[in-house]
Amino acid sequence: MTSARPVPHASDALLPGEFTLNRDDFRRISQMIYDDSGIKLTEGKAALVYARLAKRLRVLKMQAFRDYCDLVASAEGQGERQEMLTSLTTNVTKFFREPHHFEHLKTQIVTPFVQKGGQGRLRIWSAACSTGQEPYSIAFTLLSAWPGAANHDVKILATDIDRNVLAAAEAGVYAENLLDGVSPEMRARYFEPAGERGQMRVVQAVRRLITFRPLNLVEAWPMQGPFQAIFCRNVVIYFDEPTQQGIWEKFTPRLAADGALYIGHSERVTGPAGQNLRSQGVSTYRLTGGRNR
Ligand SMILES: C[S@@+](CC[C@H](N)C(=O)[O-])C[C@H]1O[C@@H](n2cnc3c(N)ncnc32)[C@H](O)[C@@H]1O
Repeated sequence: MTSARPVPHASDALLPGEFTLNRDDFRRISQMIYDDSGIKLTEGKAALVYARLAKRLRVLKMQAFRDYCDLVASAEGQGERQEMLTSLTTNVTKFFREPHHFEHLKTQIVTPFVQKGGQGRLRIWSAACSTGQEPYSIAFTLLSAWPGAANHDVKILATDIDRNVLAAAEAGVYAENLLDGVSPEMRARYFEPAGERGQMRVVQAVRRLITFRPLNLVEAWPMQGPFQAIFCRNVVIYFDEPTQQGIWEKFTPRLAADGALYIGHSERVTGPAGQNLRSQGVSTYRLTGGRNR
């Protein structure tokens, strides 16, 4: 699709390059992304936006970002709007990222639950799961500490706004070189060759513990919990402060008594939610005694 209008003048451009991205285009893109996901793109991110969306313009045979903005703002461009979101979200993740969280999960949540008899519900939520390494690391931790977990009322919920990463997460297939953080024992127990050379699949016994669902953290949340642990790591960093605070506030009523909230290493809980959460080590919080369900 090309515009009948003249290509915007390059002197308005925020960056030099093959396509013209001017300030107004950037403002429109960042507003749409903010409305759709809460992600705040400042002009400092112009090079990133340019690089990631230039690929879409080439696919669509467009010459200017202005045409792309017109498309994604239109009713017929909603599919492309999803592509834009996928292109602009950062999905970087890995197995056992910030390993101290998994150690805490094992020693402070799972083991005490098992020591009390392992009865009742155990629910854990990975709230921006990307391609799945986080919920699978949770499942490996759980099963290592409690091999019989699958015979109990144990579930892991894994959500993300991006359906492409969710599909990859649900498939549970990874190149062998991505399994760096996984111990040899866990590799042997929880992965199997996936057919293609160098590809490994998480075994069914692990995958069945996890439910993958689309969820936009800045929209309504159908899940009520309570969750004994919530992982919300390396996602609110992309949101502005009021959005971050709103999300922390929505987690606290969904945590079980003494439940744990794990956040990213460069994030911190701010705002009213802080009154109901006490810090317990690096980027780890527990629900304070007053609130329980
Ligand atoms: C950097 S990854 C973090 C993955 C994992 N939690 C970790 O720490 O390794 C950020 C993820 O947040 C997701 N995301 C961005 N905005 C979101 C939103 N509004 N609601 C839910 N997920 C969102 C992205 O799709 C991406 O998969």
